[in-house]
Amino acid sequence: MINLTDKYLIDESVVYIITDKKQLNDIQLSKTELNYTEKMIDNKLRYIHINSFYKSSFILLLNSEKDEFAQLEEFRQSGNKIISEIRDIKIECLNIINLSDEKYTFAVCEGLMLGKYGFYKYFKDRKDKESSLNEIKIVGNKPDAKSIEYLNALIDGVYIARDIVNEPLSFMTAKKLSEEIERIGKECGFSTDILDKKKIESLKMGGLLAVNRGSVHPPTFSIMKWQPENAINEKPYVFVGKGLVFDTGGINLKPSGYLETMKCDKSGGATVVGLMAAVAKAKLPINVIGIVPATDNRPGNDAYVPEDIITMFDGTTVEVLNTDAEGRLILADALAYAKKYNPKLVIDLATLTGAAVVAVGENATAVMGNDKKEIEILKQKGFEVWEKLVELPLWDEYKEQLKSSVADLKNIGGKYAGSITAGKFLEHFTDYNWIHLDIAGPAFTEKHDSYRGIGGTGVGVRLLFDFLKEKTL
Ligand code: BES
Ligand code: MN
Ligand code: ZN
Repeated sequence: MINLTDKYLIDESVVYIITDKKQLNDIQLSKTELNYTEKMIDNKLRYIHINSFYKSSFILLLNSEKDEFAQLEEFRQSGNKIISEIRDIKIECLNIINLSDEKYTFAVCEGLMLGKYGFYKYFKDRKDKESSLNEIKIVGNKPDAKSIEYLNALIDGVYIARDIVNEPLSFMTAKKLSEEIERIGKECGFSTDILDKKKIESLKMGGLLAVNRGSVHPPTFSIMKWQPENAINEKPYVFVGKGLVFDTGGINLKPSGYLETMKCDKSGGATVVGLMAAVAKAKLPINVIGIVPATDNRPGNDAYVPEDIITMFDGTTVEVLNTDAEGRLILADALAYAKKYNPKLVIDLATLTGAAVVAVGENATAVMGNDKKEIEILKQKGFEVWEKLVELPLWDEYKEQLKSSVADLKNIGGKYAGSITAGKFLEHFTDYNWIHLDIAGPAFTEKHDSYRGIGGTGVGVRLLFDFLKEKTL
């Protein structure tokens, strides 16, 4: 929890953010500490930890040569470093004294809070694992209370998204996911409408139902709404997230080595839930709808097989040629369903293709879509929050690859440009302003080397929260 305060106790730990070495004279350091710090700074260090017996002081020095966004990211990483260094000394409260711009305080707070996250639910002795830090106080030169509320809401949203991703199928079936969505909705203040298998059948969502056929667990289709009275927009922003609670590949079973992270295949859905939570907690004055189609994908009794022809929610027929290209099938139904909201803009998020990881790597999102203006805004936001986007084209010649001789579309393209053919497939089910984010790379990480944590990263929550927040200013 981040709070504002006027004073702090002398024996509490402190983080100073300074722009210039001269400011060392404005902070309370002993002569020895001051000498040590100056020497370190002369040696080009910009992160200094003074570990006294009863408290720690950290000094973060701005790098005037860095561009602003890279500097913000450096401070987030510093926040994460601080968290890992105070883990063993069990510090409960940190004070931040900002002698530069408040945006840098926020960056350090983000790094601290997001770096502190861990998924400890399944440890017998989880208390030993949890970080002892439970409060960050911003002292002096204070930002306004509202921006602190927003930041706290945003961090809660990222935590919610990460928790959802990190839950294995043994807990998080599609039904459980929808129950969690209901619970989170009650807690954060958005409304929910959960469609069960019977309803999904009556709506003839052929994509979601086909993927679900191998499973013993029923699918769900969760709808979340945040519609405040003071909303700035009539037509809603709609977010659609892939909720594949586990992707074995189905009959086109994935080989081992490719299965082990596939609880992450609900990351798009998790991000949509985290975003809805953050927006509702922050009470952003904007109409937003979230949609999460959910099922697992596995070979089972009546699993769908290659060459099956299925009829989607909007009547399009699809020849299935690979049961591992399942994400586009459940998303297509959700995208077609979203038409009924007469949306201002639809953004979908999905761990959709391994090809996106090949193309843009583990730290970037592939973005496609028809709303060039909003894509530019998102790309810019991507640098600000350091969830960077790379645009791929949706030229019509790519659509050739989806032609089938027996149905309207097939569900895979050829050997090349797999992320784009997936995007082209989705595009078929849209008739509104639309952006597709393929987060297969950044959604999940297997090593803990930054504030993005280990496991689910919650990528997209910070990006889209900022995107929406800016619309309300
Ligand atoms: N969920 C996977 C994509 C994925 C891969 C996500 C790696 C995260 C990390 C998706 O359902 C999938 O299996 N895609 C196939 C599509 C192919 C069969 C056309 C892929 O990328 O191999
Ligand atoms: Mn798959
Ligand atoms: Zn998948």
